[in-house]
Amino acid sequence: MLKLTIIASSLLIIVINNFVHCDHSVQMPVYRLSPYESLKNNCVMNKENIIFCEKPSRSLRQILTNTSNIYENIIHIADGYFVVRLSIGTPPQLFVVDFDTGSPNLWVASVNCLSNCAKMNKYDATLSSTYIANGNNFSVGYGDGSLVEGIFSIDTVIMNGIEIKNQTFTECNSINGTSSLLSDGILGLSYPDLKFNNDTTILINMWNRGLISKPLFSIYLNPDKNSSYESGLIFGDIDSSKYTGSITYVPVVIQIYWEFLMDSIYVNSTIINSSLYAIIDTTTTFILGPTQSIDTLNIALGGTYDSSAGMYKVDCITRSLSSFSNVTFIVGGEVFSLTPLQYILTLNNGVNDYLCYTIFVPFNIHDSRGNLYWIFGTYFLYRFYSIFDFVNNQVGLATSISYNWTKSFDESLFNNLSKTTQSIISTASSSTQTTIVTSMGIQMNTFIRHTLNDIALLVGLFFIKTV
Ligand SMILES: *[C@@H]1O[C@H](CO)[C@@H](O)[C@H](O)[C@H]1NC(C)=O
Ligand SMILES: *[C@@H]1O[C@H](CO)[C@@H](O)[C@H](O)[C@H]1NC(C)=O
Ligand SMILES: *[C@@H]1O[C@H](CO)[C@@H](O)[C@H](O)[C@H]1NC(C)=O
Ligand SMILES: *[C@@H]1O[C@H](CO)[C@@H](O)[C@H](O)[C@H]1NC(C)=O
Ligand SMILES: *[C@@H]1O[C@H](CO)[C@@H](O)[C@H](O)[C@H]1NC(C)=O
Ligand SMILES: *[C@@H]1O[C@H](CO)[C@@H](O)[C@H](O)[C@H]1NC(C)=O
Ligand SMILES: *[C@@H]1O[C@H](CO)[C@@H](O)[C@H](O)[C@H]1NC(C)=O
Ligand SMILES: *[C@@H]1O[C@H](CO)[C@@H](O)[C@H](O)[C@H]1NC(C)=O
Ligand SMILES: *[C@@H]1O[C@H](CO)[C@@H](O)[C@H](O)[C@H]1NC(C)=O
Ligand SMILES: *[C@@H]1O[C@H](CO)[C@@H](O)[C@H](O)[C@H]1NC(C)=O
Ligand SMILES: *[C@@H]1O[C@H](CO)[C@@H](O)[C@H](O)[C@H]1NC(C)=O
Repeated sequence: MLKLTIIASSLLIIVINNFVHCDHSVQMPVYRLSPYESLKNNCVMNKENIIFCEKPSRSLRQILTNTSNIYENIIHIADGYFVVRLSIGTPPQLFVVDFDTGSPNLWVASVNCLSNCAKMNKYDATLSSTYIANGNNFSVGYGDGSLVEGIFSIDTVIMNGIEIKNQTFTECNSINGTSSLLSDGILGLSYPDLKFNNDTTILINMWNRGLISKPLFSIYLNPDKNSSYESGLIFGDIDSSKYTGSITYVPVVIQIYWEFLMDSIYVNSTIINSSLYAIIDTTTTFILGPTQSIDTLNIALGGTYDSSAGMYKVDCITRSLSSFSNVTFIVGGEVFSLTPLQYILTLNNGVNDYLCYTIFVPFNIHDSRGNLYWIFGTYFLYRFYSIFDFVNNQVGLATSISYNWTKSFDESLFNNLSKTTQSIISTASSSTQTTIVTSMGIQMNTFIRHTLNDIALLVGLFFIKTV
């Protein structure tokens, strides 16, 4: 096992040029890479057309060969690797990258990559007339235990037609253990890491070159897979058509991650804890929190810890929906509530049997000052539009227009759910599918642990230094 510690914080000095910022923004369409769909359709990625043809995952393919329906279900639920397309070089070389608010660097596979990058698009410096050598070594570990190594290079990065000149990035030669990575690399959108990229993150470069008129980016994630093309990442602007009500801003407390202090957490009217640190991480799926608070929260919801899964189970068969409380986060004095249909995962084991877990997963991790913190992943972002301002150093949250969208599922759940909540259930047909291979003698519990860890934790590419 790797021992993991967070990179030490030091004073960050970001040099911001005095540039007249006109009304500019860079709107990035967001796509969803689907390990499940790509496996099913045996699809090979088409560089021109990523939406329709997705890249099969090497490791997931192997794991899924020995799968159960539970596994299929959780994959389907967590079926959200949100990616964008960008190009590097002149002429442009196209890449598909995860965008990650939990790490600072842009990296893609290099033509020199020999380890675990067979199916990736690879950057070839010799083909680019705007390439500038740097050659410093790069190595980064992620929360999922993966380790990526390479060298720094400089070239033009093109995002949705906008050229970001002389952008420092990494071409990677060794990509180990990124079992959940389906893309060609990662677009890091956290604060710069002094050791590696000082004032050279893509955000700061765009701002310094006057390519964006506001020093921020914002994210809308649509939970509906069939509409996920509506998701969007915008540099330099806020899309007011994607949220309702007002935006609540909270200061960033440590400029490494997008970390803020939340006031408190409630289950119904019971306070669970107060003064808690949290980060927003687009590459984590669920909501992860310190063991003690997560335990209190889940118990208040009537959950029981399933040690084989590492998650909390709830009874979604005999309990009615109204017996489940809302979970409410108070941030900047405002209420951010998740309703039962937003925080309960319903997993079908393929034989009319259900297992239900909450998205509140125990995970102890400390920031550079030693504070335990929460990680709000995509299940939070599905409901709350988010804004990341790197000059005023604040995070903004607002109710997403997809707040009320709910996945359709078996109506026999929640003791007559269908009779009481029909109006908010999507009319889309159930996503229950039964195509995948049956279990080959691997115990169900092993599966659940394996798969839930994969999804909840391995997907968490928050930036961690390996020592
Ligand atoms: C799949 O199951 C077979 C038979 O149980 C086993 O030999 C093989 O190692 C498993 N493969 C993986 C990738 O787990
Ligand atoms: C990068 O790492 C390699 C292998 O460890 C080493 O030989 C080389 O000197 C390093 N380069 C720089 C610029 O530090
Ligand atoms: C890019 O960097 C090179 C080398 O430092 C420099 O000559 C060039 O002017 C820079 N171009 C831009 C647009 O910043
Ligand atoms: C990465 O994996 C390759 C092949 O398994 C191995 O040779 C290499 O030592 C690994 N690198 C690191 C840094 O773990
Ligand atoms: C970043 O800045 C620090 C402090 O000025 C310096 O020591 C370090 O070498 C710089 N790192 C890079 C990668 O340029
Ligand atoms: C509240 O959170 C803090 C920090 O995460 C933790 O030390 C404490 O035990 C929690 N209290 C409860 C009642 O869960
Ligand atoms: C929420 O709290 C109210 C007031 O204490 C109580 O009447 C209600 O039953 C609670 N709801 C749930 C789902 O526990
Ligand atoms: C739970 O939250 C929903 C959506 O914010 C709200 O409509 C509902 O009234 C809340 N329920 C309770 C019991 O507070
Ligand atoms: C969600 O539904 C409630 C109740 O119908 C409604 O009041 C609210 O405006 C809706 N919210 C959004 C963001 O659509
Ligand atoms: C609905 O609930 C009632 C009692 O709460 C029960 O008698 C009935 O069988 C349930 N119907 C369905 C379809 O689950
Ligand atoms: C998405 O659309 C396809 C084709 O129209 C449909 O078969 C599927 O059930 C839909 N899935 C969801 C989750 O709505």
